[in-house]
Amino acid sequence: MRSTTYPALVHVQIAPSILSADFAHLAADCERVAGTADWLHIDVMDNHFVPNLTLGLPIVESLVKAVSTPLDCHLMIEDPDRWAPGYAEAGAGSVTFHIEAANAPVRLARTLRSLGSRVGIGVNPGTPLSVVEPIVGEIDMLLLMTVEPGFGGQPFLDLVLPKIAAARALLDRTGGDVRLQVDGGISAATIERCAEAGADTFVAGSAVYGADDPAAMVAALRKQAAAARG
Ligand code: DX5
Ligand code: ZN
Repeated sequence: MRSTTYPALVHVQIAPSILSADFAHLAADCERVAGTADWLHIDVMDNHFVPNLTLGLPIVESLVKAVSTPLDCHLMIEDPDRWAPGYAEAGAGSVTFHIEAANAPVRLARTLRSLGSRVGIGVNPGTPLSVVEPIVGEIDMLLLMTVEPGFGGQPFLDLVLPKIAAARALLDRTGGDVRLQVDGGISAATIERCAEAGADTFVAGSAVYGADDPAAMVAALRKQAAAARG
């Protein structure tokens, strides 16, 4: 297993999504945020769980070797019970699967941890928090989708804000060291609302890779979120 230094559990973490990077120059685009980003967010889509197809394990295996930032793999795929362990074995620092897709989420979370990965569970906008409440003790990150998964560049769904606040209260109540990640439509215009609601880990695709200076945008988003978290 690869030895990696993972980000310290600081208050705010920023994870640029490479979905909005230039896939023909992927490693170079990853390095544009090296040293600034806490994670690189890798959106794996299978054209079944979501209506889009992106990249899979061979590319993640190559990126693990080619880039210095730890990989935060977000699996928007069916049958993660079968496929997710491969991403942990490849050296991803964090592997997130969707609660809507997993058959045995507790077993899968324990398998991923045993392989040395942090574990996230993703929750779509229309999925209630109650389905993950019993198992938050098994995970390192709760990912709340703030768009319907499948595409970058979609508008932020304000309707998820109360769920972010409820998730914050749940995680505070249950204790432990569980990050609260938001993903979809996160930008300078929306990050403060998410931070105020209680998110501490922020995925941003089009906002970062659509900026003239992606590293400067990561720093700016971090500053905004940290100020809003207080
Ligand atoms: C959407 C993906 C997101 C996406 C976010 O299904 O999970 O990670 O890349 O892109 P933006 O930040 O452009 O909404
Ligand atoms: Zn994502």
